[in-house]
Amino acid sequence: MADKGKILLSVTGFDPGIWKDALEKAAPDRTVVLEPAEASDPEIDYAVVWKQPPGVLDGLPNLKAIFSIGAGVDHLFAAGNDLPDVPIVRVVAEDLTDRMSEYSVWQVLDHLRKGPLYRDQQARRGWHEDLMQPAASEVTIGILGYGNLGRDAAKKLIMLGFKVIGWSRTEKQDEAVETFAGEDGLAGFLAQSDIVVCLLPLTPATRGILSASFFAKMKPRGPLGAPILINAGRGGLQVEADILAALEEKRLGAVSLDVFQPEPLPPESPLWTHPRVTITPHAAATSMPHALVPPMVDQMDAHDRGEKLKNLVDREAGY
Ligand code: NAP
Ligand code: GLV
Repeated sequence: MADKGKILLSVTGFDPGIWKDALEKAAPDRTVVLEPAEASDPEIDYAVVWKQPPGVLDGLPNLKAIFSIGAGVDHLFAAGNDLPDVPIVRVVAEDLTDRMSEYSVWQVLDHLRKGPLYRDQQARRGWHEDLMQPAASEVTIGILGYGNLGRDAAKKLIMLGFKVIGWSRTEKQDEAVETFAGEDGLAGFLAQSDIVVCLLPLTPATRGILSASFFAKMKPRGPLGAPILINAGRGGLQVEADILAALEEKRLGAVSLDVFQPEPLPPESPLWTHPRVTITPHAAATSMPHALVPPMVDQMDAHDRGEKLKNLVDREAGY
């Protein structure tokens, strides 16, 4: 019996059918629509979105909140989207956090244990043990973006024996991790990091941060040789030409990139065939409807009862 109002579902890049099924299952008392019946459908009170087309959220007179189906919300603010002035909720969920930490740990261990080297050797039937194998305890991992995902990755990397440090916009107190904040803290953070794991959101302040001037501040040498960059934040954080130049100059030993600008990474990109670049197709932490939709609907119900929404986006900061 659908009588609690309508949810507008507007997703591109994901199969809307799976999200619609999950929403209908979790919210049998709400109607899920893929398009407003009319441009200003007054029955729509919540929107669930990913890269919504421009204008889709305009003119909905009773819209109460927008839910992103991912942790990042840069897709919402993309050019051409003038967002209505309602709260924006992003994903903070164990399922997504665990997936991201799996990716971070996987890539860190792959670089620690010489994955690219041994895969290359295997392709040539080569048998040579690299005896320059540092222990995890000799390697410092710098988490760039010490937020929800960064803190979880740090916890799991510490369990494996790594030293972990974190960088964020605002100052943090953390017993287990030395933390750095803001532009002033970046050089000190980079001077210690053997592997940088970037889990930043894409905002006007972070766009293009992974550039030549950033690589110039990285620790020149360490237990793995040159420093390593892992970026699972957003493609817009990185300047691809600068990454390629830093690899050539050996300022960077290797990179793992999950995110690109644009996506998919165009076939002609030199990143595809670079021997020290590992590419995954924005697969670090996918959004699973069965895990993410029930808490979204719980939040809608709680909000309708007058409770405060959680995991709200700070529009001014952009994340
Ligand atoms: P979060 O909890 O908001 O954490 C973001 C962190 O970045 C915070 O520590 C924040 O500092 C820091 N930060 C933001 N702007 C900064 C700046 N200008 N200078 C320094 N630090 C800054 O976000 P999250 O849930 O961890 O998610 C992070 C990002 O991961 C998402 O925005 C998304 O882009 C990406 N992501 C990617 C995938 C994938 O599959 N590749 C999946 C999920 C998420 P404060 O602590 O001071 O606020
Ligand atoms: C995925 O990229 C997300 O932001 O959750």
